Amino acid sequence: MDASSDHVQSGQRFKVNEKDFEEVRAREFGRLDAGGHVYLDYTGSGLYAECQLRQNDAFLEHHVLGNPHSENPTSASATERVEGARADVLDFFGADPQEYAVVFTSNASNALKLVGESFPFRPGSRFTLPRDAHNSVLGLRMFAQARGASVDYLPLDDELRLDRRVPIPPAGEGPSLFVFPAQSNFSGVKHPLSLVEQARDVGYRVLVDAAAYAPTSQLDLSRNRPDFVAVAFYKMFGYPTGVGALLARREALDALERPWFAGGTVDFVSTHTGVHQFRADAERFEDGTPNFLGIAALAPGLGFLRSLGMHNVADHVTRLTDRLLEMLQELRYEDGSSAVELYGPKDTTDRGGTIPFNLLDHSGRVVPYELVVRAAAENNISMRGGSFCNPGAGEKALNLGVDEAFGCMPDASATETGDRARAGSVRVSGALRISVGIPTVSADLDHLAAFLSGFIAARSWETTGAD
Ligand SMILES: Cc1ncc(COP(=O)(O)O)c(C=O)c1O
Repeated sequence: MDASSDHVQSGQRFKVNEKDFEEVRAREFGRLDAGGHVYLDYTGSGLYAECQLRQNDAFLEHHVLGNPHSENPTSASATERVEGARADVLDFFGADPQEYAVVFTSNASNALKLVGESFPFRPGSRFTLPRDAHNSVLGLRMFAQARGASVDYLPLDDELRLDRRVPIPPAGEGPSLFVFPAQSNFSGVKHPLSLVEQARDVGYRVLVDAAAYAPTSQLDLSRNRPDFVAVAFYKMFGYPTGVGALLARREALDALERPWFAGGTVDFVSTHTGVHQFRADAERFEDGTPNFLGIAALAPGLGFLRSLGMHNVADHVTRLTDRLLEMLQELRYEDGSSAVELYGPKDTTDRGGTIPFNLLDHSGRVVPYELVVRAAAENNISMRGGSFCNPGAGEKALNLGVDEAFGCMPDASATETGDRARAGSVRVSGALRISVGIPTVSADLDHLAAFLSGFIAARSWETTGAD
């Protein structure tokens, strides 16, 4: 298998096994082993394959790209590359170009914000979302509330899945928006994409936050047709940073009302008459000069994913997740008591490769996550601790009520000194998160297992972080 080739068309089924993934790791991600890294934060950011760098370098070396939006030759080259990237992104996600447009943004948050700030909320509108929405989705409530819409959260069950006993409330009398993460960045839960149809059937426009889903699952917009989808490319293939996209049904884009214009978004502006005229569909939403060199670097990244096949990536991640879940559940003290509290699903059904958990001390109390992250860092293991910009899932997982959630608001002195990290001192307000991706191999999981067992055996929280 040649991972640098881009001849493999999306949608074609072919098999890539674990041995192939080991080869890809050695060939494309050698810097991980050269630096002794155990990288387990793929939900934070994907990593780029070296073939992407080579292809991008070769492109930059041989092309002259100017600022797009003009007819001069270097500008036209940049425009051509940007338009080619739009077509490539649509193809990757199986979206019909007649139906969907691609708006390039700086990240997923800005793709989400474009919808929130332009959505025609008014009194009587409804903004509905599950409690495990990322902060960049929760923040849209400020646009909704400012324009008089009501905000409704759908509850989670004990596995951090949507509590299906609670139906989606019907849309309000005004234009209403339903947003959900296709995959939770806290728990890895994959919410069913059938929610798109369900929400549409009760009157909503639907925005899917695919930032955590798209890196390791095939999102096929020919099957589910949300109005809007937000993604960030660095999460999918590491490089470039600073480029995300809003994929939007053209008809849904037309229903948005942009609150301002900027260079690049208008065909005509007059200071005499106060008139302005927006450009057609996607460009109406791209403020200022697009990140055209970053956008030019998308083709190698998409090509790399195609060469692996997203179905193979998903299978690889499921196999690793299965092993991780088993390893964590087997981590025990000599008396057989569990050393891990897992949050979210305990198996691989409808979930991605993101696992939140806390370590427990020998009497079952949670070991502050900060201590574990710090000790992991000393072992060159990159994992994440906190609530991962996902307060609703954190509140549910850690069983925090309203008062306790208030109690978790960081106070400056505690954050500065890290004192909250002392076992048993105050309510623990976060968790550990490990996440796997294309480059992960079983040796990474072995290193993690050895670190966690050693941390527990040494009762490291009794000494780590002490003054
Ligand atoms: C589910 C989800 N949504 C949105 C975001 C925001 O993405 P970005 O930081 O690229 O704007 C993230 C980032 O972690 C995420 O995981």
